Amino acid sequence: MKYRAIKGVKDILPGETEKWYFIEKNARDLFETFGFSEIRIPIIEKTALFARGIGETTDIVEKEMYSFEDKGGESITLRPEGTASVVRAYIEHGLYNNHSLTKLYYMGPMFRHERPQAGRYRQFYQIGAEIFGEDSPSIDADIITLLMDLFKRLGLNNIELQLNSLGCERCRPVFRESLVDFLKKRLPMLCEDCNRRFERNPLRVLDCKSKTCSEVMRDSPGMEGSRCEKCQRHLDGVIEYLLIAGIRYILNPRLARGLDYYTRTTFEITDKRLGAQNAIAGGGRYDSLVKDFGGPQISAIGFAIGVERIVSLIDMGDKVIPGSSPEVYIAALGEEANRMAFDLLRQIRLRGIRCETSYSDQRFVPKKSLKSQMKKANQYGVSYTLIIGDNELRNGKVILRDMKKAEQEEVDIEDIVKVLVERIG
Ligand code: HAM
Repeated sequence: MKYRAIKGVKDILPGETEKWYFIEKNARDLFETFGFSEIRIPIIEKTALFARGIGETTDIVEKEMYSFEDKGGESITLRPEGTASVVRAYIEHGLYNNHSLTKLYYMGPMFRHERPQAGRYRQFYQIGAEIFGEDSPSIDADIITLLMDLFKRLGLNNIELQLNSLGCERCRPVFRESLVDFLKKRLPMLCEDCNRRFERNPLRVLDCKSKTCSEVMRDSPGMEGSRCEKCQRHLDGVIEYLLIAGIRYILNPRLARGLDYYTRTTFEITDKRLGAQNAIAGGGRYDSLVKDFGGPQISAIGFAIGVERIVSLIDMGDKVIPGSSPEVYIAALGEEANRMAFDLLRQIRLRGIRCETSYSDQRFVPKKSLKSQMKKANQYGVSYTLIIGDNELRNGKVILRDMKKAEQEEVDIEDIVKVLVERIG
């Protein structure tokens, strides 16, 4: 084969796309109920936006971004995530002037140059949500509830919600300090990357997935010992509201989340059925990012779901959405019949009924027997087949065959569309 899709990038084929519609439809419905509006953000942005937003010393920015110089010499990056772009758009269009509370959602591809493996792609899709303008812990619980409700609707029942609070600009440095103290004595046991992380951004050592580093970090100090009173009270508030919503959680004081913009609440949803890449969604608060990007002091919180990982977990069972298989098939025999079949095909489709035909035309393609056309109708699994022959046409009739009952009748041509609409609805 001459061309193949590039490594880490995959086609989503018919048969699977139905699952995507199912996920997207449920997400849109729920977002609407929770008062969100859709925002469509560009796929490319200035590199500096992500470098500043996600953090210069994160793995995403250091190693994983698809960045290139455009023809004007500007450094451009294919978005590795959506939050930085949504924040930029929120400030650029002064969305905070419209409402004190702004709820936005987005869907689309993201790009990270990671080592591809099961559940990890270089182009992957996220469904994300961001809320601007509210500090109350009840909004944290509200957005987590949305996420858990969505997973419930999708039939994911084996998931775990991990929760942490990374504190604020006052207590985070205390945590950083205790982490540095812990790491200093264990540097030879940590991987090369983590030795580098220790120098530049020690918190990121918590993200390392390598076996030895994870083992070392099991005894590392968690955030709980460093949190200031206000941040602890905020976390207690989130928990209180989660309990009201009946949402179970696991406190994970070492959940650091790989991106630098988080403050206070962070969370991740995992599913044990997945392998190493078991996070199906993650998110958290980022109360300084709007200001850091040159906007007013406005707090925010959000999440993003990894769609491929959800797709791999969903069992559609009886929830299959009607696909594009036809409901009616038109079999035609003869030149006049072929033309009538083409006309009826269009009329039936205009009434919203899925219809296929044999595209019979002896002048260009070998003659298709009635038997082969009926075989096709059976393969499609249609409910009705129209059989049009030149003889019937002379009497202004077509044959309508009910495929399930295996019965057929003659119907006047001018009535056939109406009859089909009545029967199929
Ligand atoms: P993230 O944890 O980097 O967060 O990504 C969110 C989800 O995207 C992950 O939990 C995972 O399911 C999926 N994901 C990430 N990388 C890949 C990959 N290479 N292949 C397949 N799926 C992947 C964010 O992106 C933040 N922007 C979330 C957020 C929104 N925080 C606040 N607002």
